[in-house]
Amino acid sequence: MIHLRVPGDKSVAHRFLILATLAEGESLLSNVPASLDVGSTISCLRELGATVEEQGQGSFHVAGPSTWRSPDGPLDCGNSGTTARLLTGLIAGLGIEAEITGDSSLLRRPMDRVAYPLQAMGARISYADRPDRLPVRLEGRASGGLRKLRYRPRVSSAQVRAALLLAALAGRTDLEIIDRLRPRDHTERILRAMGAPVASVLEPTGERIRFPASGWDGDLAPLDAAVPGDLSSAAFLVVAALLTGRRASIRGVGANPTRTGFLRVLDEMGAQVDLAETGAQAGEPVGNLTVTGRVLRPFAVDESLVPQLIDEVPALVALASRVDGVSVIRGASELRVKESDRLALLVSNLRTVGVRCEELADGLRVHGSSAPLRGSVETGGDHRIAMAFGALGVAPGCSVTVDNARCVDVSFPGFWDALTEVTSGEDV
Ligand code: S3P
Repeated sequence: MIHLRVPGDKSVAHRFLILATLAEGESLLSNVPASLDVGSTISCLRELGATVEEQGQGSFHVAGPSTWRSPDGPLDCGNSGTTARLLTGLIAGLGIEAEITGDSSLLRRPMDRVAYPLQAMGARISYADRPDRLPVRLEGRASGGLRKLRYRPRVSSAQVRAALLLAALAGRTDLEIIDRLRPRDHTERILRAMGAPVASVLEPTGERIRFPASGWDGDLAPLDAAVPGDLSSAAFLVVAALLTGRRASIRGVGANPTRTGFLRVLDEMGAQVDLAETGAQAGEPVGNLTVTGRVLRPFAVDESLVPQLIDEVPALVALASRVDGVSVIRGASELRVKESDRLALLVSNLRTVGVRCEELADGLRVHGSSAPLRGSVETGGDHRIAMAFGALGVAPGCSVTVDNARCVDVSFPGFWDALTEVTSGEDV
């Protein structure tokens, strides 16, 4: 068995940090990843007046509740869509003025999905250059504060939910979200662990989230929690282990059931990958992951499962290309507005290395085989494209290089060493 490590989960880390700034007292957070995306959230929170102090080795003290102020200049969210969308919600709720921007990839990603419902709550938000794109300008809120909102999002997105929950929390207004699908529920869980009355009801047509913030005293308990390991980062190492037939274990990985769609697909493929729950951190289940077998069959993923494996599609596609038969992913058009157009880039890169595949409007079809794969792929600066093809490159008979190895740092600094560990680490 090879023992591997992954950084803390960035989705959870963003939320722990942001929610801690709103708590009544000092939060102590550990295992906060050194990824660039989480660094963007920390620097933006500091610009907004929050006290987020690094204690070394991934530990942070956050002194809540913060004394907020309008930042001196634009808030730079770098490559992080989660930072941009969640902070748009928070700032709308606080009613302060700010401009939010990011790198060239982030400037291409849609913002209407959060701006529109926030405007419906009474937030004054405008676009600096182009509609639906960063930079956005937040110019305070309608007099009398934010209005309550009952909303059916067009896209089922955890970032949208989190942005609206943060606005409702900071703006002390009621929120109800009726979602067709079920994206990751980190914000709801963490808020509940901090004492907020957030309810989630699963209904035949989707999920209903209720947050009656106006009738609650607003006291959020501080956090004392370790960020679980990132299952989305672990996915690439799991794929590499499956492709090389090595047995591997990763301890302390996030086991939130709204994130584990990837494991359900591996099960369908006949892989022996197990995530055994060992405990929880601020409402977030944690477990130990073990990989002991190989993969036998192709898979089919439809819309209902996509939100629960949205970031794992590149990893699954890499695996699909080495399994005899045709794997299909549908209902995944959201992948076109991630850090890159992942459907287009996956398909063009698969073809470059010699995999037969078809691009669909909302997904892709991969014809897997054991033929040798060779070539150099374009990442478009997208960390998950780089890691997917990195993992594919370690499969027997394959030789794949990526054009921008450093882009993995937004989520998994140390990925390339971890990959070497999978292929050459000592079996103990
Ligand atoms: C995230 C939600 C997902 C995911 C992203 C992180 C989050 O995006 O792809 O990497 O932390 O809320 P969507 O909510 O847009 O699907």
